[in-house]
Amino acid sequence: RTVYLNGAWLPEAEAKISVFDRGFLFADAIYEVTGVIDGKLIDYDAHAARLKRSLQALGIPMPVDDGTLLDLHRQIAQRNGITEGLIYLQVSRGAQDRDFLFPDPLEPTFVMFTQAKRILDNPKWNKGISLKTVAEGRWSRRQIKTVQLLYSSFEKMEAHREGYDDVLFVENGHVTEASSANFHIISREGRLITRDLSNALLHGITRGSILDLARRAGLETEERSFTVAEAKAAAEAFITSATSFLIPVVSLDGTNIGDGTVGPVGRRLLDLYIKDRR
Ligand code: PDD
Repeated sequence: RTVYLNGAWLPEAEAKISVFDRGFLFADAIYEVTGVIDGKLIDYDAHAARLKRSLQALGIPMPVDDGTLLDLHRQIAQRNGITEGLIYLQVSRGAQDRDFLFPDPLEPTFVMFTQAKRILDNPKWNKGISLKTVAEGRWSRRQIKTVQLLYSSFEKMEAHREGYDDVLFVENGHVTEASSANFHIISREGRLITRDLSNALLHGITRGSILDLARRAGLETEERSFTVAEAKAAAEAFITSATSFLIPVVSLDGTNIGDGTVGPVGRRLLDLYIKDRR
């Protein structure tokens, strides 16, 4: 694979980053993941906009201008022959002697790579997944897409060992999101309920797209926080992310959601999303 590093296209074995990089030492870095289908970038503009918000929140400068950023996304997909998969991008504050304080200015480290991945016809679309609730243990500024992913990775790993597919984070009895996806329910009355945007969760791009499509399709929607009990009593549930689109959740802590099979509303929203973006 060819990777992009600070202005150069390099074979992955030749792409090297300083051991003093603050991304490495402090997780002082943000990232973005954009899906690719049929060689096309999915929801690119929204991902680029969130990238800027994340950088601004941490005071890291944008490494390239808007036009270059889009061009790099197109180029890297083309160079690596990615027709289906993802483009990963990371910007760290850069390298300096290890210090909790960061002097200004620093030269950001900017990396991009691709990963081929089958997004369409995911077997989980038909089977659904199981989630286990765990206490929310991440820092409180989760709207920033930082690379501080250890808590999420650890908890997901533990859940896997216990036979679950993923975790659902819970704070004060209310659902925030899954380890790397937003969580939504369809109430018994047929309403799409998803947590309102705040610092408590990542403002998922796919979340926004699905919400928009649901409204256009005439579905009633509510953006508000909800409890684990409400999620367990829902007719359907699903998670959304750039690399999986929409995956039905059929059980929570071992309790079936609905009848424990994939529900029609989630499937319809998934089909609408694929049709609209392809
Ligand atoms: N994760 N919430 C969290 C904590 C996430 O890490 C992600 C995405 C989402 C969904 O956001 P979006 O729809 O913009 O992808 C929600 C990416 C895919 C990852 O870490 O690989």
